[in-house]
Amino acid sequence: MSDKRILDVACGSKMFWFDKNNPDVEFCDKRTLPLTEYYPNRYIEISPDTVCDFTDLPFKNDSFYLVVFDPPHLRCGDTSIMAVKYGQLKSGWQTMLTDGFNECMRVLRPNGVLVFKWSESSISLSKILPLFNSTPLFGNRRRQKGDTTHWLCFMKGNIK
Ligand SMILES: C[S@@+](CC[C@H](N)C(=O)[O-])C[C@H]1O[C@@H](n2cnc3c(N)ncnc32)[C@H](O)[C@@H]1O
Repeated sequence: MSDKRILDVACGSKMFWFDKNNPDVEFCDKRTLPLTEYYPNRYIEISPDTVCDFTDLPFKNDSFYLVVFDPPHLRCGDTSIMAVKYGQLKSGWQTMLTDGFNECMRVLRPNGVLVFKWSESSISLSKILPLFNSTPLFGNRRRQKGDTTHWLCFMKGNIK
């Protein structure tokens, strides 16, 4: 249950948020991590408002105006720095992404917006979009060389 307007279902350390304590945002992640020095003078802390799994969100249908979905996108070692920062994809990741996307849509209000972030460092976007039962409205079609990140925008109720 939340009366906030915005939901981030996989906030990690909130790296992309300008205001990491924005009171309008329900920050969620399935893990917590106390302030940890993961590299000399580099720190990470994961401290969500709600610890939960994005495949089974503890929120009612039609709750949020904006949902942000930035799931793990890397196949990497359990103890790697990247796994600490971003989490990792394990077997069954396709089902996890489908279920996560469907949960994001369920808790969005009608006509609400879902922003999906995907980095193609391990898996191309063309393998991800067929997992979703909605097509994106728009996203960054051109990227700088070496930039693997996509930001895509979906709307609940958008006709495929
Ligand atoms: C790519 S990172 C998010 C980075 C974040 N957007 C930022 O700005 O720092 C993905 C996050 O998803 C979390 N995660 C992985 N599986 C999850 C699940 N089933 N439910 C909720 N969070 C999950 C990981 O713990 C990790 O923190």
